Amino acid sequence: MMIAVYPGTFDPITNGHVHVVERAARIFDRVVVGVAGSTHKQPMFDLETRVRLASETLEHLDNVEIRGFHTLLANFAQAIGARVLLRGLRAVADYEYELQLANMNRQLAPELESLFLTPVEHYSFISSSLVKEVARLNGAVESFVPAPVATALRHYYEARR
Ligand code: COA
Repeated sequence: MMIAVYPGTFDPITNGHVHVVERAARIFDRVVVGVAGSTHKQPMFDLETRVRLASETLEHLDNVEIRGFHTLLANFAQAIGARVLLRGLRAVADYEYELQLANMNRQLAPELESLFLTPVEHYSFISSSLVKEVARLNGAVESFVPAPVATALRHYYEARR
């Protein structure tokens, strides 16, 4: 049973992330989307909301499970029996950070192999920060994020206007 963990902050999950998970679900027996509670970012949505939005978005995939975690990613991956650590690589700009992450995780959990998927071109420019910026300024985000996320973003900013 080959289990892959796809970790991230997912603040919020975007169509780019979804596409990566859909492809991973065809490759691995089980994919666990690990939503990080402890991250260097200051997430806009709390962990519970980020997990809920990812769960609603990915419910069509039978072999995909969404789990929040507060520990080291390496420990979380070991606890769920993952042998693959999956990340998306959008552009050269991602590479340096991803290399650091992969090397640190190799030190922490040598049996865990980092693998990278590149997004399709039309999703390669999307990032959670950009999507939030567009939503904050009342732009349309429906083509960048799943419907539950677009709704959550609208409610979030409407409540603050
Ligand atoms: N499509 C669209 N956007 C994508 C994407 C894709 N395929 N792949 C990445 N992104 C974007 C995200 O939207 C996000 O954008 P943002 O920076 O504007 O928010 C950015 O790329 C990366 O975010 P994400 O994929 O959510 O990952 P992350 O870099 O926030 O995740 C963790 C970092 C969670 C993996 C890392 O902090 C971690 O492991 N934390 C746990 C604690 C730990 O173990 N720390 C030590 C690590 S060695």
